[in-house]
Amino acid sequence: MKVLLIGASGYIGSAVSAHLADAGHRVVALVRAADRQDAGHEQRVGDLADPASLTRAVTPDIDAVVNLAPPTGDATVDAAAVTALTDPLRGTGRAFVYASGVWVLGATGPAAADENAPVNPVPIVGYRPAIERQVLDTAEVGVRATVIRPGIVHGNGGGIPALLVDLARKHGTPTYIGKEAVHWPMVHVDDLADLFVATVEKAPAGSLWHGVAESAVPVRDLAAAAGAAAGVDGEPRSWPLEDARAELGAPFADALALDQTVSGDAARESLGWLPRRAGAVADVRELSYPQVDTDGIEVFGAADGQQADVEAIVRFVAGVQHAQQNELVDAFMSNFRTQHPVWTTGHGKRLSGWDEIDAFTRRVLPGATKQSTATYEVVRILFVRPDIAAVNVRQRPVTLDGQPLEDQPEGRPMYVLAKDNGRWRIAAAQNTQVFSG
Ligand SMILES: NC(=O)c1ccc[n+]([C@@H]2O[C@H](COP(=O)([O-])OP(=O)(O)OC[C@H]3O[C@@H](n4cnc5c(N)ncnc54)[C@H](OP(=O)(O)O)[C@@H]3O)[C@@H](O)[C@H]2O)c1
Repeated sequence: MKVLLIGASGYIGSAVSAHLADAGHRVVALVRAADRQDAGHEQRVGDLADPASLTRAVTPDIDAVVNLAPPTGDATVDAAAVTALTDPLRGTGRAFVYASGVWVLGATGPAAADENAPVNPVPIVGYRPAIERQVLDTAEVGVRATVIRPGIVHGNGGGIPALLVDLARKHGTPTYIGKEAVHWPMVHVDDLADLFVATVEKAPAGSLWHGVAESAVPVRDLAAAAGAAAGVDGEPRSWPLEDARAELGAPFADALALDQTVSGDAARESLGWLPRRAGAVADVRELSYPQVDTDGIEVFGAADGQQADVEAIVRFVAGVQHAQQNELVDAFMSNFRTQHPVWTTGHGKRLSGWDEIDAFTRRVLPGATKQSTATYEVVRILFVRPDIAAVNVRQRPVTLDGQPLEDQPEGRPMYVLAKDNGRWRIAAAQNTQVFSG
């Protein structure tokens, strides 16, 4: 499909853009300024505040429109934008996906809110339920209109968790907003992007989905993880709501103080959505948010400005380690390219193609770390091309509490990583066990 994406340069939009491209779709980005040089997709100029520019962008070759731009703050402008974007789709059955958010549900308390729960929006999203209704009503005039309400999004070092990391640094202690008993519904940005792709491809007209992988994560745990990512010790402490309001503005602070439990089961059951990335606490503590130390890694062939790729590769390998250590089969498999990957195990078994690797991983990974596990350390990166890297890793067996196991062989994996649509993944991998004597 050819998909017009509004907000393609944003935090969620850039992940959605990459996942759409991975799934074989063509992304057309609606950008606000003509001179923007976004990575690799066609661009059309437009602005939510200029309805004519939106209608112009929805040409007959556009099969689906995804609106990931935040509300403008003016209900009339946002309503006019929806009309302008959906008018050209009337009677066509083509898709229109609108990103809302779980804050329209207000404080839910401990009972999980599903898509049938009543809305009770906090002021920052005050008019959003009306926009959701306007979008869904276009199903009656032949638009395949859908709404996704993401939870709080984490991953790739961005979004609201980055604010918790900054707060920990600034306050010198792990910090959450408001009350300790608050929970946030969370979703990894790559899992959320998978949901947008599934919705574009197959969600029925008039449907509403919660993009939530973990229904209620204690903010205290997130604050502790953010403190660890920031290198700040101590027990998490509350940032009193009044102080947070003064600094962040009352509407944003009040939304962050919401205690919510939100179910994302419907999308799993009906769309086959499978959130498989690391949970929010592990992601914030160990993976996407801590600063990466690249000292001591030998790097060859790097172009100017490729330090970000070195860091991304170190984070990538940390993700492989996390999936292995926690026996997360789906998370482990999300590290492979889907196009003909190959993996030769430390015992010399060659697994050819995604299905063979998947079947093998499902058989051997569950239960594999009952007695011991392993750490993965990047030691050498060769950029064969800017988007292809050969990565040597030292894999050390350790006890479950991290003590080295000297009597077990180390591994020397070599990963050939390819960067597709901005993300590194394994094209080929070979492990070698080390026997020295
Ligand atoms: N992040 C979360 O945790 C979260 C959770 C729930 C819901 N959401 C919702 O998801 C959506 C995307 O969030 P995000 O975090 O990805 O936001 P973001 O990083 O701020 O990105 C916003 C994107 O929208 C574009 N944009 C902003 N105003 C626009 C306008 N008037 N016309 C056209 N494009 C415009 C921006 O383009 P420029 O590059 O030109 O600025 C940017 O590409 C929002 O509706 C947000 O409320 C986010």
